[in-house]
Amino acid sequence: MCGIVGYIGDKKAFPIIINGLKRLEYRGYDSAGIALVNEETLTYKCKGKVSDLENFVKGKNINGNIGMGHTRWATHGEPNDVNAHPQISQNGYFTIIHNGIIENYSRLKKKLIDRGYKFESDTDTEVLANLIEYIYLKGKVNAEIAVRLALTKVIGAYGLVITCKEEKDKIIAARKGSPLVIGVGKGEYFLASDATPIVEHTKSVIYLNDDDVAILKKDELILKTISNNRLTPKIQKIDLEIGKIDKNGFEHFMLKEIFEQPRAINDTFRGRVNVDFSTIHLGGLYNVIPKLADAKRIIIIGCGTSWHAGLVGEYLFEDLARIPVEVEYASEFRYRKPIINSDDIIIAISQSGETADTLAAIKLAKEAGATVLGICNVVGSSIPRYTDAGVYTHAGPEIGVASTKAFTAQVTVLTMMALVLAEKRNTLTEKDKLKLIKELTEIPGIIEKILKNSEDYKKIAELYKDASNFLYLGRGYLFPVALEGALKLKEISYIHAEGYPAAEMKHGPIALIDQNMPVVVIATKDKSYEKIVSNIQEVKARNGIVIAVVSEGDTVIKSMADHVLEIPDTYEALSPLTTVIPLQLLSYYIAVMRGCNVDQPRNLAKSVTVE
Ligand code: M6R
Repeated sequence: MCGIVGYIGDKKAFPIIINGLKRLEYRGYDSAGIALVNEETLTYKCKGKVSDLENFVKGKNINGNIGMGHTRWATHGEPNDVNAHPQISQNGYFTIIHNGIIENYSRLKKKLIDRGYKFESDTDTEVLANLIEYIYLKGKVNAEIAVRLALTKVIGAYGLVITCKEEKDKIIAARKGSPLVIGVGKGEYFLASDATPIVEHTKSVIYLNDDDVAILKKDELILKTISNNRLTPKIQKIDLEIGKIDKNGFEHFMLKEIFEQPRAINDTFRGRVNVDFSTIHLGGLYNVIPKLADAKRIIIIGCGTSWHAGLVGEYLFEDLARIPVEVEYASEFRYRKPIINSDDIIIAISQSGETADTLAAIKLAKEAGATVLGICNVVGSSIPRYTDAGVYTHAGPEIGVASTKAFTAQVTVLTMMALVLAEKRNTLTEKDKLKLIKELTEIPGIIEKILKNSEDYKKIAELYKDASNFLYLGRGYLFPVALEGALKLKEISYIHAEGYPAAEMKHGPIALIDQNMPVVVIATKDKSYEKIVSNIQEVKARNGIVIAVVSEGDTVIKSMADHVLEIPDTYEALSPLTTVIPLQLLSYYIAVMRGCNVDQPRNLAKSVTVE
């Protein structure tokens, strides 16, 4: 949460920082601010979005070749002008932007108040700015030492960019728990929470690790640890095209990303699946496959949509490879003293690779001696760096806060993993394995077909956009899809929605059903088909409105449901990849028709780097 950008060089910092903030706005959009180093440091900040900040600075002095910018997702203190970043220390020596949480801020604040400091904002960041200043003035040390000493007193997470009014030729950056990337240009450096603001300027980047501190001048970079050990910067080349982070003519990133799924899935299996030889090669797992195949138990962890993908993984691993699986919310797993054995395999799933709860759960599992694997989308993010091995999804940057293509790419990876394990464990016949591999490569084409029917989704969206509640039902592989459909709807349209295993309906949720309740039933032809037909009848008997996602040509459900959305049939194990598409489209059109900000839903942020 929160996006941070910094620049030092010979160019005008303002446009670089503003454009960078626009790319990072998916991380938070409660307020925005910028500081530009001049004779005096110019600071402009306001509640609202980056566009509000642009309006706010119109006609003002925006000169400067060194600067920083911030787009906020509020943690400490309501979203307002005062709590917006940058925060400035009491005597104006330090200007600072921060992504993360200083957990012991109230204790530090009290000590600073006792020493005469007064606070203007409610933020933990102002506490840090004042702590650095206090150490700087009291200890008569330079800015770098003051920052490092202050950080030894801090408990929590941070990505920081800091300037000091008495050392105008430098920016200091530090990282613990919140991501920070340095872009290396010629006579200039860039800083950002992820590589998307940097990629249009340079492809050379350095990913900071926890406890790293960087001291940047326009032609010098010094990297060290908080405890002053000098480090050698590792410059990496990134393979990220600017076109992939634009809307490319779509009205919203979410819609673009929904339509990108055939490409994203294809890129995720391309080079890994060979239909002719019926093989799957996952290079990132090469050394751990024997251990994985012998695992007594796999524990999958994730949050939100990634957790839903994990639930699909449970069905895949148990069904195809016959390995017991448990799926856990990372936030629960990390705090409930889980029993982790050294021969357990933990699979952490995350689009961003930065989710705080997932990272903490990984650390816990590693400390317990388990082998931890990652399924991640963002190359170079923290999770791939903290896990023992893993597989990247190649979905490309996902900017819409509602996860779409990341989900189908994650499920694609889980499917490939389950098939690799099924082969090793001899739990599938060669014929069945080939059938599944072949059909996996046909999924992009099937999704293309589904995407051609957008008009059908718009019609249903128009009819039910004013509903107050929705229920989503599915069985087996399609139960996690029901959960995912409900999450998509509630997060972007603010309509309350619940996902349920269809058979559980009669144990409670059925009481909610009346003539005003749309019930989305995912009812393609699989082994539970007859059962779900009965569930649909139960809904209809109580006058509920049934919107059913069915296999092409289905006549049985068509005769009883209010609306059917027909999609081509697939093997059951692959059905989450196709059945989720109608649900994504339905949520999208409902949210648009309700006038919601689809890409930046209220209260949310793309990358949840606080617990
Ligand atoms: O980056 P991650 O996959 O770790 O993020 C996990 C969740 O925060 C994320 O899936 C969230 O639930 C999305 N907004 C869902 O659309």
